[in-house]
Amino acid sequence: MSDVLLDWWDGHEVVALRKSWSVPAFEAYRSVGSTNDRARELAAEGRGVWSTVVADEQTRGRGRRGTTWISEPGAGLWMSVLLDGGLTPTTVPLEVGLACAEAMEEMAEGIEVGIKWPNDLLLDGAKVGGVLCEAAGRRIVAGIGINVAGAPDPSVVAKADGLPPVSLQRALAKDMLRSRLAGVVLQRLRRRFKDPAPVGRGLDPETLDELQRRDVLLGEVIETEQAGVGRAAGIDASGALRLVTRDGAELRIVSGSVRSASGGVPDTGRA
Ligand code: BTN
Repeated sequence: MSDVLLDWWDGHEVVALRKSWSVPAFEAYRSVGSTNDRARELAAEGRGVWSTVVADEQTRGRGRRGTTWISEPGAGLWMSVLLDGGLTPTTVPLEVGLACAEAMEEMAEGIEVGIKWPNDLLLDGAKVGGVLCEAAGRRIVAGIGINVAGAPDPSVVAKADGLPPVSLQRALAKDMLRSRLAGVVLQRLRRRFKDPAPVGRGLDPETLDELQRRDVLLGEVIETEQAGVGRAAGIDASGALRLVTRDGAELRIVSGSVRSASGGVPDTGRA
């Protein structure tokens, strides 16, 4: 299906949502290849920071490291937001993940959202969402996928990162309006990126504490593509994952995928 632009999305007029969120541009699609690709086009057209694209369905939704992101119609918040390109690329995905975790918790009282380095959002050990940030000229595209409704197919999604999928509706046994969640995500993103640290300064202590509180890998024995097996020792100010190897060396993991070496799925790590 070719791209179908909507005037109304999730029960709201698109123009009204753009105004209430005060974003320079807002596009909602019934179907689009990838909201990240459309957001990249908006960046190339010179659209401002906070310009936002959502879609009911993506036909070529992407996850991290070339995986396919299944984006069934109406099943999730498939959203891309333009951020300032001057932000630190290694820490942006973590901060976007924090903003999403905060937004979900604001929307559904009592839940606790964990973060699995570098981009997974977890509810009770299952993947409820993910973040894919990509450079786009003078902007960064923050791509956000949150499973809102239904039951994502475990055989497809789990292959990608070893985590079983879950939706908010499944976990909470209640519905959530994607448009409301999108609005809260935008608010949280704005709050997080209000006073960005100069590139190279890294994450501030408050953000590091927040990440540590949500870090589902902390203290786990994990298997990394970059450096084999070790114990996860938290996330550093540059956004790298700290790994302590069996011989006690501390390494910084900056790329690749990581998973629990026990084969199990780490719990959210929060009481
Ligand atoms: C991951 O967990 O690997 C990241 C998933 C990111 C999916 C979102 S959905 C909106 C945006 N458009 C895409 O094609 N991908 C991101």
